[in-house]
Amino acid sequence: MRPTGRGGIAVSQYRIAWLPGDGVGVEVMEAAKICLDALKFDAKYTHGDIGWEFWRTEGESFPQRTIDLLKASNAALFGAITSKPAKAAEAELVPELKGKGLTYRSPIVRMRQMFDLYTCLRPCKAYPGNPLNYKDAIDLVIFRENTEGLYAGVEFSPVPEELKAALGKLSKPFAHFAGTPGDEFAITCKINTKRGCERIIRAAFEYAKLHGYPKVTVVHKANVVRATEGMFLEIGKRIAKEYPGIAVDDANVDAITMWLLKNPASYSVLVATNLFGDIISDLAAQMVGGLGFACSANIGDTLGVFEPSHGSAPKYAGQYKVNPIAMILSAKMMLAWLGEKDMAAKLEAATAAVIREGTVRTYDMGGAATTLEMGEAIARKL
Ligand code: IPM
Ligand code: MG
Repeated sequence: MRPTGRGGIAVSQYRIAWLPGDGVGVEVMEAAKICLDALKFDAKYTHGDIGWEFWRTEGESFPQRTIDLLKASNAALFGAITSKPAKAAEAELVPELKGKGLTYRSPIVRMRQMFDLYTCLRPCKAYPGNPLNYKDAIDLVIFRENTEGLYAGVEFSPVPEELKAALGKLSKPFAHFAGTPGDEFAITCKINTKRGCERIIRAAFEYAKLHGYPKVTVVHKANVVRATEGMFLEIGKRIAKEYPGIAVDDANVDAITMWLLKNPASYSVLVATNLFGDIISDLAAQMVGGLGFACSANIGDTLGVFEPSHGSAPKYAGQYKVNPIAMILSAKMMLAWLGEKDMAAKLEAATAAVIREGTVRTYDMGGAATTLEMGEAIARKL
């Protein structure tokens, strides 16, 4: 018996939900498993059904049995999922399920909300020797709020008459739309709570403190999206006062895309609401090699789900050619979150060594190594 790093639960073996999902998700997960086995990580892996196939055949991409599995797990490793817009998704259902009013919603977004995985943590580090680095010495860590904002899922299309009437009464700018029929416009609500802002901003500052990062940048659009983004910025400034050893600054989300490209080395931890965090994390990922290097963690108080930020890449599926480093570094984040700090450090060092040596490279890095050859090369360093 030994303790896990979370909640002091003593377990003899970690229970890991294994969710490969679709397309290349399956392939990068295999590469990660090679590394976890080389580390002798003591876990019971249980496969969970998730993804497009289950949408098509059951009308549910994230079935209840997988939700139950997650409830019974210490952490989950997740590959990738195919997502399509509502109409295209409906068209692919098996004939028995068509016309039943089923609507596709991204399972990962639902999982984040259902399990309150409010921190989306996305480190973007330029490992020396990576030919895809945009500049040297980039070490950015994005904290993205993961459960609310524009992803809250409160949307209207068409807009019901009651809502039109209420908006007509409550909102002056709405007069501009009042004469538009409800089926000629759509509404997506951006909902942020004080608690939601506080916990992600605090997570960013705590991380900066623990890992010695000098600064937290609050990314927002408070000058235009005044209610929600204004609240986010205000809370950021208030929480910053509790961390006198860490510098704080703030930037509009549009401006930060320019500043990050111009001076990446002058940023370290960045925190943003959901959609803005989604966008800047892709930008930051591209500066350190693209989606093949973009690891990520969805973390709540009792569960962590670790996944590369890339999608299922249908055009590469079955070819075992995509770079598994994003997945392997996500597995490293899982080890760290579980409290297995030594294993996490070893896995990161092994990955960095393979990148530095440059003899094993996947196609994105200009090489010809397969997904599994990259996994094996990293495992050999362990
Ligand atoms: C991400 C992805 C997801 C998101 C998609 C697949 C729903 O872009 O994890 O960044 O928008 O959050
Ligand atoms: Mg994204």
